[in-house]
Amino acid sequence: MPSGASGKDRPGVWLHCQSRLESLPLFPAATAAPVATESLIEIKDVNFAYAERPILTGINMTIPRGKVVALMGISGSGKTTLLRLMGGVMKPTTGEVWINGECTSKLDTQGIYRMRRRMGMLFQFGALFTDLSVYDNVAFQMREHTGLPESMIRDLVMMKLHAVGLRGAHKLMPAELSGGMARRVALARAIALDPMIMMYDEPFTGLDPISLGVIANLVRELNDTLGTTSLVVTHDVQEALDVVDYVYYLSDGKMMAHGTPEEMRANKDPLVYQFVHGEAEGPVAYQYPSKDFSVDLNLGARRAASPPGGHRAA
Ligand SMILES: Nc1ncnc2c1ncn2[C@@H]1O[C@H](COP(=O)(O)OP(=O)(O)OP(=O)(O)O)[C@@H](O)[C@H]1O
Ligand SMILES: [Mg+2]
Repeated sequence: MPSGASGKDRPGVWLHCQSRLESLPLFPAATAAPVATESLIEIKDVNFAYAERPILTGINMTIPRGKVVALMGISGSGKTTLLRLMGGVMKPTTGEVWINGECTSKLDTQGIYRMRRRMGMLFQFGALFTDLSVYDNVAFQMREHTGLPESMIRDLVMMKLHAVGLRGAHKLMPAELSGGMARRVALARAIALDPMIMMYDEPFTGLDPISLGVIANLVRELNDTLGTTSLVVTHDVQEALDVVDYVYYLSDGKMMAHGTPEEMRANKDPLVYQFVHGEAEGPVAYQYPSKDFSVDLNLGARRAASPPGGHRAA
């Protein structure tokens, strides 16, 4: 958790004001009454295959309301695929994905759209609309999905930008932002409609260590002050372990381990240990499976062509 910020700079202050706004029936997405369950997301025995190729096998996950949960695993292990299943972009081959008490497989297209309006997504490079100012980027969804008057949109945009520390940058264009600032604007845009669930796919990629820490702390702080539930897909193990409540570790499409950050740090399973501690040596091979090096370098043929005991003439 971040510390040291003065009260007036912290999002909690404007949330008082925001909660008054939210008490007005302005957000259509918020009118679809969900069934209250303790877990916001439940993945039950999910298998998923692209055509014949199995990608996820026997996945079970529970994400309790109000928590920040990390989904980790090496590249290609199926993390983004799992996010897509949660977002209703694809359906599991078998098994069920439950979001806020509703089984996504049983929802029609309208139901999926209704559910998605309550999800905020932040992707790896958090692409902003390059021709729109910071202000208009954050206002975009509010204008698209609510009938709010412009004066109220202005207040909300400023609150969201204040929450990520960029209220003063509202007139800038995306080209005038650093990478870390752009990611924070994308974050403000993702929380524009006060999502019930925030999903982050590699939110820290390409950031310097300070910006990375800022974004990681913001993920935590926004989750707690907005009362959201967050799922963070990341390779940045140490940063994630510092801010999340729980970790799921996916390997080759299977859930290999899960636990609190302390439990994951103490996990002695060689697969988990190698990932958590960033070891080069371990069960996860650095080299993609390949033929013997001497075969790829064609050494056998070269040896045969070389005169015994010396170099071949040029
Ligand atoms: N649209 C697709 N069609 C077929 N196969 C796909 C498709 N998208 C992903 N895959 C395959 O599914 C597997 C899991 O991909 P996924 O993107 O979920 O991995 P990931 O864990 O998010 O990896 P990374 O950390 O690199 O983002 C990969 O082997 C990938 O090649
Ligand atoms: Mg991915």
